[in-house]
Amino acid sequence: MRIIIENNYQEMSKKAALMLASQVTLKPESVLGLATGSTPLGMYQELIEMYKHDEIDFSEVSTFNLDEYYGLSPQNKASYHYYMHHNFFKEVNIAPENIHLPDGNAKDILKECQAYEKLIDHSGGIDLQVLGIGANGHIGFNEPASKLNVKTNLVELTEETIADNSRFFAKKEDVPRKAISVGMATILKTNRIILLASGKNKARAIKETVSDYVCTEIPSTLLQTHPQVTLIIDKGAASLL
Ligand code: GLP
Repeated sequence: MRIIIENNYQEMSKKAALMLASQVTLKPESVLGLATGSTPLGMYQELIEMYKHDEIDFSEVSTFNLDEYYGLSPQNKASYHYYMHHNFFKEVNIAPENIHLPDGNAKDILKECQAYEKLIDHSGGIDLQVLGIGANGHIGFNEPASKLNVKTNLVELTEETIADNSRFFAKKEDVPRKAISVGMATILKTNRIILLASGKNKARAIKETVSDYVCTEIPSTLLQTHPQVTLIIDKGAASLL
């Protein structure tokens, strides 16, 4: 596991954008795994700027997002569909047919999960996966538990995550209690992973992520079994290392 410590959020975002841009330059038809949350917003901003300055071309890129809330329509402003469209897709030239997110509103959720997993497989696999991290060590929406899903599945959110993510909703009761998330094996079979973390509230999770054990109660520790993981973190998130 490689650890890059940047001075602040802006430098972390720039570094992550440069890595993603390098991937797309080296392989224009890259398959990217994308994340939501506050952390990658700066990276998306940097990528939009690079696109506007003709420094990156997404025309052949495909994307797969990690997760989506259960029961939220793509028009719902708290949905990850809305987040991605609003914060990134509408500003760059990724072909709409190459954009993939799980449908949290699907009639048959389990079928949707299986279909999403198949789509990722048929894409040839994810070249570069971007991850954030929950304060409890969750990645995607794989929450601490005694058993973790291998493949894309419907998951129950923990009270901690519901409280953390309530800032994106009008009130806490509006936060869905379930989500579709790609599974741990889906994440671990991607070719290369960059994990972004910023701020002291992520310091404990980062310390655990680089510890010398793996455990399902801290899902991010499983990243230690992956050969190509780079943590790009700021000083706050690195403060317990
Ligand atoms: C959500 C997402 C995760 C993300 C996490 C951290 O729960 N499902 O993919 O990593 O939030 O979010 P933030 O970056 O806002 O701290």
